[in-house]
Amino acid sequence: NNSWYFRNSLVRANYKNFEKNIFDDISYLEKFFYNLLSDTKYELKNRYTHIDYVQSVTSIDSKCKGCTLEEQAIINILKVNPAINQEEIAKQIMEDYKGKDIVFLCILKGSIFLTVELAKRIKNNIQFEFIEVSSYEGHESTGKIKLNKDISGVIEGKDIIIIEDIVDTGRTLSFLKEYLLDKQIASLKICTLLDKPSRRVMPIEVDYIGFEIENKFVVGYGLDDNQNYRNLNYVGYIEE
Ligand code: IMP
Repeated sequence: NNSWYFRNSLVRANYKNFEKNIFDDISYLEKFFYNLLSDTKYELKNRYTHIDYVQSVTSIDSKCKGCTLEEQAIINILKVNPAINQEEIAKQIMEDYKGKDIVFLCILKGSIFLTVELAKRIKNNIQFEFIEVSSYEGHESTGKIKLNKDISGVIEGKDIIIIEDIVDTGRTLSFLKEYLLDKQIASLKICTLLDKPSRRVMPIEVDYIGFEIENKFVVGYGLDDNQNYRNLNYVGYIEE
């Protein structure tokens, strides 16, 4: 039994394989015991002794759908359902920008989810621009903003909404506001999925906020940990 467990634990990085192997093992064990028992004319009872174990794996998986077991062990789900607030923010933006075109300035890479999800819910004509800045190394803000990719289109005279994934120290948005000052844009508002107000170093006014969260390092829904976990369909935090 132990070696069966050990062999399976070696492949737990891939849950699908893991599950398949467990079922293979069960049918292997079933056949083995069935042959053994039928030889000795005993009835095969308790055929699914190992099912408990399979179910407990499945219930861990339902906590964090689609994750590997390693991820399940370190990610906890924050109780935010981005979809709910996107509806509200989209309505508010339509109210504020009646009859106007809008430019969504998506801050790569973390804001891709929010940019797309919001845009799908808004009836105004939206143009998209992208800029890439970075300030984080691992879980720590370096305090220095690096401009990795600049805006490619013309934004002069346009109504811009910066779409951000999370406002933490506020340095990124202060940098971007300063940067856009030179561009003669018509107006500027800021929208963020998450806000960690307890971490603020630079004062920054945010117009649309999805959720305020406590000081935890979060991943998913566009947010990363060293480029990983961006495609989780919810916001989770890493157990430190
Ligand atoms: P700020 O400049 O300190 O406000 O940080 C903003 C940027 O840092 C965000 O756009 C994210 O890329 C990154 N960041 C801040 N907090 C987190 C977090 O909890 N998880 C992932 N990225 C974060």
